[in-house]
Order: sequence, then structure tokens, then C-alpha cells
Amino acid sequence: MKKLIAGNWKLNGSLAANEALLTELAQGLQASPAACDVVVCTPAPYLAQVHALKSAQSALAVLEVGGQDVSTQASGAYTGEISAAMLKELGCRYVIVGHSERRQYHGETDALVADKAKAALAAGITPIVCVGETLAEREAGRTEEVVKRQLAAVIHANGHCISEIVVAYEPVWAIGTGKTASPEEAQAVHAVLRAQLKAATDQSARIKLLYGGSMNAANAASLLAQSDIDGGLIGGAALKAADFLKIIAAASV
Ligand code: 13P
Repeated sequence: MKKLIAGNWKLNGSLAANEALLTELAQGLQASPAACDVVVCTPAPYLAQVHALKSAQSALAVLEVGGQDVSTQASGAYTGEISAAMLKELGCRYVIVGHSERRQYHGETDALVADKAKAALAAGITPIVCVGETLAEREAGRTEEVVKRQLAAVIHANGHCISEIVVAYEPVWAIGTGKTASPEEAQAVHAVLRAQLKAATDQSARIKLLYGGSMNAANAASLLAQSDIDGGLIGGAALKAADFLKIIAAASV
């Protein structure tokens, strides 16, 4: 299976910085084309800009654009929300749902995340469903229980469409901390998620399982070498073209 490298820009960027980053990515990809799938999930106001920059540079043909969140609603009186159809119109092929920062700071529940995945799928957008335990949950030995519960909600709400999702395992304690799960720790959780998906659909082999949490140019290769790690969801290192390109190269072997 082709690996998938997804950058999550979070609340970062500017018109000028995005253009500089994409120009540098284009140069790198021109010199050394990616043999994996690549997506950048940008703040919503920049989706059109990034999609236009991608369309203007042939070296960026491999690049897909994604959102960082989506509304469960199609339209109406929901101030501040962005619908899946709007993301689609702006060129998004993916959208992140249930990132731990949304669960933590915006109170997103498993049920809401499942409904967001459903809204994305209905619009033909691939949801990148994030799951992951906090440090307290890991220390209490609850990692498996937590990630299985989070994924079960999405499986339950989406039935056979579940084969169209991407899952990202992002241990909360590894996000932005520089503390990465070891390849073995990550693989152990990925194996649990893989088994859960296998029990849910006979199409599970096509579902990509990404690891996220302080993945960088130095540790990407060893994480990506694990049998159930099909790619990465990258925060900080996705904002530096040289680092993101190294991760793409590590996923292209
Ligand atoms: P960092 O790579 O900055 O740890 O962020 C990971 C993440 O949350 C990606 O969604």
C-alpha cells in the first residue's frame, strides 16, 4: 500500500508563508518526486490559496489539500461552521476529524466526531479520524480501551463506508512535546486498531493507519517501517519544507 504523509498546519501560516513553503516543497518534489500520497491540511481561509498554488505548479501534482475540521451540518444557522460541501468546492480531498486538540479544547465527543466523519464521507471527502490516549490514560493502562472506544463510535456511525476512512493514532502525550511513541509502542496500538477494523469490514486492508505525535525527519523512517504504520500525520515538522520533504522521502522507499 502506498504510504500517506499528511501535514497538519494547525493554526499556523499566512499568505506569504504558505507561498514560500509550497514553493520550497515544489522545488524539493521536482528534484525528488514523492512515491507516496501527500496532503496538507491548512487553516480553512487558506484552502483556496493552497489549492491554486498546487494547480499552478506541476511539481505539486501529487499534493492533495485537506481541511482540519468539518461541520456535521450541511447548511443553515450554524455560525462559524464549514460544511463538507464547502471543503469539497475548495478542492479538499481529505479532512481531519476528532483531532485531540478539538476533543480537548472544543469538547468534541466520540459521537460528534463520528458524525463529522459521516458528513465528510457523504460529500466524498476522506476523513482522517484521529484517536489517541492522554498520558494519564496510558499510565492507567487504558490506551487500548480508549482508542478502541473512539474508533468504535466512528465504525458504528458509518457502517460499510468505514473502508473509506483514514485513521490516525496520535497519542496526546506525544503531540508537540518532542516525545515520540517508540516504533514498537506505536505499532502495538496500530495492530489493535487494525484488528478492530478487520472485524468491522472485509475491506480493512485498504484503510491507512497513520501515526502522529512528534514525527520528524529523524524518526520517520523507523516509525514508517512498522508493519501497521501506513503513514504519518505531522504537525510542527510539516511547517518546515526541508523536514517535510525528508519525511516524504522516508515514506517513498
Ligand atoms: P506534532 O507533529 O507537532 O507533534 O503534531 C502532531 C499532530 O497533532 C498532527 O495532527
